[in-house]
Amino acid sequence: MARPRPGALVASLLLLVVFLSTSAAAARQNHGLAAASNSNDTAGGGGFVGVDGTQFVVGGGKTTIYFSGFNAYWLMLLASDPARRPKVVAAFRQASDHGLNLARTWAFSDGGDAPLQSEPGVYDEAMFQGLDFVIAEAGRHGIYLLLCLVNNFPDFGGKRQYVAWAREAGHGGLATADHFFNTTVVKDYYKSHVKRVLTRVNTVTAVAYRDDPTILGWELMNEPRCDADPTGAMVQAWVEEMAPYVKSVDGGNHLVTAGLEGFYGAGAHESKDLNPWGIYYGTNFVATHLAAGVDFATIHLYPDVWLWGSAPAKQAAFLRNWTRSHAEAAELYLAKPLLVTEYGKFLWEGVANETQRDGFLALVLDSIYDSAKGGGPIVGGAFWQLLDPGMDALRDGYEIILPEDRRAAAIIGNHSRLLAQLNGQDVEEVRRRRRRRRRGAHNSRKVHVASGRTSGGRGSSDDTPRLNTSLLVRFVSSLFRSVSSSPFSSSA
Ligand SMILES: *[C@@H]1O[C@H](CO)[C@@H](O)[C@H](O)[C@H]1NC(C)=O
Ligand SMILES: *[C@@H]1O[C@H](CO)[C@@H](O)[C@H](O)[C@H]1NC(C)=O
Ligand SMILES: *[C@@H]1O[C@H](CO)[C@@H](O)[C@H](O)[C@H]1NC(C)=O
Ligand SMILES: *[C@@H]1O[C@H](CO)[C@@H](O)[C@H](O)[C@H]1NC(C)=O
Ligand SMILES: *[C@@H]1O[C@H](CO)[C@@H](O)[C@H](O)[C@H]1NC(C)=O
Ligand SMILES: *[C@@H]1O[C@H](CO)[C@@H](O)[C@H](O)[C@H]1NC(C)=O
Repeated sequence: MARPRPGALVASLLLLVVFLSTSAAAARQNHGLAAASNSNDTAGGGGFVGVDGTQFVVGGGKTTIYFSGFNAYWLMLLASDPARRPKVVAAFRQASDHGLNLARTWAFSDGGDAPLQSEPGVYDEAMFQGLDFVIAEAGRHGIYLLLCLVNNFPDFGGKRQYVAWAREAGHGGLATADHFFNTTVVKDYYKSHVKRVLTRVNTVTAVAYRDDPTILGWELMNEPRCDADPTGAMVQAWVEEMAPYVKSVDGGNHLVTAGLEGFYGAGAHESKDLNPWGIYYGTNFVATHLAAGVDFATIHLYPDVWLWGSAPAKQAAFLRNWTRSHAEAAELYLAKPLLVTEYGKFLWEGVANETQRDGFLALVLDSIYDSAKGGGPIVGGAFWQLLDPGMDALRDGYEIILPEDRRAAAIIGNHSRLLAQLNGQDVEEVRRRRRRRRRGAHNSRKVHVASGRTSGGRGSSDDTPRLNTSLLVRFVSSLFRSVSSSPFSSSA
């Protein structure tokens, strides 16, 4: 479907840009938020990030670190053109001015108009140098990177492109893109991509990616889903094979995660009743995050599009349920940290405006902070998506332009500052406090878990009209394709 546009305020925002860009330098001087200004807040310089129970740790594994992050899938793409690198620098500068210390971005572009990998094993050096530049700039700004290695969706190639390559090479029986997960030749293509990226020596810093502490970790895939096997077994087997493979190439320096959105399957300790519309998406949140080599868990959070057409109160209830149930699972069954690696609210004229979007941001960020502050397993997140001023071609209805969206920027900046104050705690002490807290909350938690699991599912008490869910699933997934789409245009 066509990429939806927010369609509002462009002209007045342009005036604002002019105003802000003249005052931006002065504003930066006054910002108390910059990560580097507080020695306990430093993101870069902290070295490799490790995991200790449900916490991320730095400094050789003793002290906590929390992540206030953003998504910007376009960084490599823009940086591949030296003329547009200032956009990348500006993005990192705005991010660090707002205390952001994590960027999630694509380390892939398979086939298509602007490939990193034009065919299996064939790489575009300009694109790779773009990624080199992104990593170097992230490091310079004290921002960690979560690098994603392939897409579930067809944007920038994805699993469909990998399967097409195998088909073009004469391999038969590859009817759908989901053969990506279980076909030996395709899995070998993927492994070769992993190896090529992880062993790449950065032309700017001369550090191999696998040795670079700027990288928080590797994400196996953006939003794995598998229609071919709703039980989740296909994705499970793929993750069980690929996570240890990535670890083996990486040498154990970096963390690995699968890239899941958090949908539950039929395994132990999960219930599809907690999924949007109670549908299976071919993944098991708990089982897959238990796979060897997976260091931390992720969820995404888009209550408005996932429950499109349902009442705001139901979407808010979903948001609470989604974070609570995953936090409980991360703590009780995974004992791993949990990052909300994408969340956003779609701006759509007549449906949601900036005020409502900012309210949603505050809600998500508060729930992340509450968990982090209490020693809980949600230790950070990354909003979808950060754009620079003037990148109108990449607007997707979710964009947050920090110098323009001033209220959103203030909410994010405040959150970063609060979260950064939690950095540098002794991880043992956090654990002791958490145990004490949980002993107190024990009984009420038991009730939550039980009612979550045995609930009737679709919220039948809600008077929202029953929608055709098979239509909706398609709508939502095409919306997501548009979210990650590649409007690679010269105006960006
Ligand atoms: C891969 O999965 C598809 C869809 O379930 C199935 O048809 C196919 O036989 C599987 N291939 C292998 C090699 O197991
Ligand atoms: C946004 O929408 C809400 C609810 O419809 C409305 O109350 C508010 O005034 C709107 N805000 C702006 C800035 O348009
Ligand atoms: C951000 O924090 C400042 C200082 O504590 C406060 O004055 C301001 O109202 C906060 N802004 C938002 C949007 O939360
Ligand atoms: C940094 O953290 C330590 C505890 O680990 C604390 O004593 C110190 O005051 C903190 N420094 C700043 C600048 O917040
Ligand atoms: C939230 O969870 C409760 C049970 O804990 C359930 O009754 C309710 O239907 C859920 N609501 C949504 C929107 O998922
Ligand atoms: C929902 O839509 C699909 C696709 O148009 C259709 O095949 C199906 O029968 C519909 N289901 C209901 C319950 O209306």
